[in-house]
This record gives sequence, C-alpha cells and structure tokens, in this order.
Amino acid sequence: MNNGVHSTYGQITGWGSYVPVKVVTNNDLPPELETSDEWIVQRTGIRERRIAAADETTCTLSLNASREALAKAGIQPSELDLIIVATSTPDHHTPPVSSLLQHALGATDVPAFVVVTGCTGFVYALSTAYQFIHSGAYRTILVVGVELLSRFVDWTDRSMCVLFGDAAGAVVVQATDRPCGMRSFVLGSDGSQGEQIIMRGGGSARPFSQEVLDGRQHYVQMNGREVFKFATRVVGPACEQAAAKAGLTLADIDWIIPHQANLRIIQTAAKLMDFPLERFIVNIERYANTSAASIPLALTENLTSGRILPTDRLMFVSFGAGLTWGAAVVEMSPR
Ligand SMILES: CC(C)(COP(=O)(O)OP(=O)(O)OC[C@H]1O[C@@H](n2cnc3c(N)ncnc32)[C@H](O)[C@@H]1OP(=O)(O)O)[C@@H](O)C(=O)NCCC(=O)NCCS
Repeated sequence: MNNGVHSTYGQITGWGSYVPVKVVTNNDLPPELETSDEWIVQRTGIRERRIAAADETTCTLSLNASREALAKAGIQPSELDLIIVATSTPDHHTPPVSSLLQHALGATDVPAFVVVTGCTGFVYALSTAYQFIHSGAYRTILVVGVELLSRFVDWTDRSMCVLFGDAAGAVVVQATDRPCGMRSFVLGSDGSQGEQIIMRGGGSARPFSQEVLDGRQHYVQMNGREVFKFATRVVGPACEQAAAKAGLTLADIDWIIPHQANLRIIQTAAKLMDFPLERFIVNIERYANTSAASIPLALTENLTSGRILPTDRLMFVSFGAGLTWGAAVVEMSPR
C-alpha cells in the first residue's frame, strides 16, 4: 500500500505471457469453412493461432501470464496494491474475472477490476494503472491483457473465426522516483461506430433467448472492411500525438508495438507514418489477433528474446471495439 512516499514514475519491472499449447494452422481449419492458407496469409498475414483447451478459461490464461510477470518482478501476489484486467471475453458476465484472478493468485483482499475496451483494452488498462501510480495512491500494480476469443467467434463464419487466437499477457508496474515508464498516452472512442464490432445478444439490449441463439447473435460480428479503414486512419495520428505529448517525435521511438489485427494494417500504417516497418514488432503470423493480449504478448516475447532492450523507448498502439483507440510512449528504464 501507499507508504506516504509520493512517486511520480512507474517502471515495468515484470512481464509474462501465456499461450495455449494447441496450435491450429490455416491448413488445420475445417474444410467446411471453405477458406485457404493462401487467402488468410495474403489478406491478414496469419499462419496459425493458439486455441485454449477445454479446461482453460480466461482466468487460467491470466493466471499463467500473471505468475510469470510477478516472478520476473520478484513480487509476491500479497504485495500487489491493485489488479487490472483488460478483456472482453471473461469467464462470466459476473463476477468480474479480475476478482477470480485475484483469488486464484492468492492476492487476498487486493482490489481488482476489469477494463472493457475491446482490443484497445491493454492500453486503456495500463494508462489507468499509471494514474494510480502517478497520484501516489498505489505502488505495485498488475495489469493483464487477456482474451479467449475462440469461445466467442462463430466457427461456421469464415470471415471471423480465422482471424482470432487465445492468449494472455501481463506486466507489473512499480512506483519509482527514477524517470521512466509511461511518458504519455492518447485514448479515444467513437461510439457512432459501435456496430462495426458487436455481440448483439446476451446483454441488456437483447437479453439471451432462443431467438438470440438461433440468430447466432451470441457471437461477435464484425464489418472487417470498415474496421480496416478505421485502423489505418487512427494508428498514425495516435502515435504522433502520443509522441508529441511526451515531447518527442516518432524518430525518438525505438520500437512500435501495434495491436496485431492484420499485417496489412501494420504495413499501411508504417507507410502512412513514414516509420520503418522493421521497427514494428510483428508476431501475428503465429498468434493471429489475440485482442487485448496482443501487446503484452509481443512485449514479453521480444523482451525475453532480447530483441527489445530494457533501455528501449516503446510506442504501444491499439484499436478495436467501440470503436476505440489508444497509444502510449513507454520507457522501459531511466534513460
Ligand atoms: C477481415 C478482413 C481480413 C477481410 O479482408 P477483405 O480484403 O476486407 O475481404 P472482404 O471482407 O472484403 O471479403 C472479400 C471476399 O473474401 C471472402 N472471405 C472472407 N473471409 C474469408 C476467408 N476466411 N477465406 C476465404 N474467403 C473469405 C468474403 O466472403 C468475400 O467474398 P465475396 O467477394 O465473394 O463476397 C479485413 O477486412 C480485416 O482484417 N479487417 C480488419 C479486421 C480487424 O482487424 N478486426 C479486429 C479489430 S480489433
């Protein structure tokens, strides 16, 4: 808890990720879908995705990633001041999966809540965590991005089910007086485009019923073409605004970690921003779109491999249901 010392900065001291063991390649997809490896690779860059086992849930995926992040930071669950989980695919509508995770971790009485902003969830959750750190309210926060979308997409709809995979990523943010961590953030939302990515049934607007079930409205539906246009429109400006808010330009950024939705979105954004594609972290070919998990998953993988150095300056940028978007400049350690 807050010991009275006001610390302005928050360092990411731990990171972890988890992907289910089961790999489903494009060629493994059921023939009834009438899709092909060629179509999927050309249109999206995706070659395979991970699919959760029957006994796995959003909570168990989160737990695996969180334990790794806590071990890396050398933190016991009891030392956490707060847990924030970004997800749109929780174990249940209620109770919140953040409380399930808090209990599973053994983080007794630690406050926990969920942030629901689709694929932008991790950037929103991390930005929220930093407000608690900057204010001095909390010193040690676990932020998780997790998604189990394979249970929420219609496996008879080839325009949706090929695009997504299951994963979790987590970071530990700890207060420090050394300048580092999140230097700026930009968040946005345009609810007029809410219909572009929507699960129509099962909420207060259309409670679960036989009609919802028959209409397959308990699955996420998406207007892929419109989301594609939106994403290519917001990524560049969001990154430029976040850089400017940190007193930087894009030339000062070592790596951009974008939400992994479509390789063509990343390529188009790189061109529009005039930022080298080689400085974008891309792993969509192996995991597909893991929504709120994609940024912490890519971060963990590349820190572990040594491609991203603990001294690097990063840009996280994401977009998704809402429609929402967000970008943040993060310095892994003091420069
Ligand atoms: C979904 C997406 C890959 C579709 O690519 P696209 O080039 O826009 O393709 P379209 O949706 O226009 O569909 C073109 C054709 O391919 C077909 N198609 C769609 N999915 C297919 C699949 N998996 N395999 C084969 N054909 C497929 C469509 O039926 C359509 O056929 P038609 O022309 O005969 O009607 C692309 O729009 C996209 O990635 N959008 C962004 C989505 C996203 O990232 N969402 C997450 C945001 S967080």
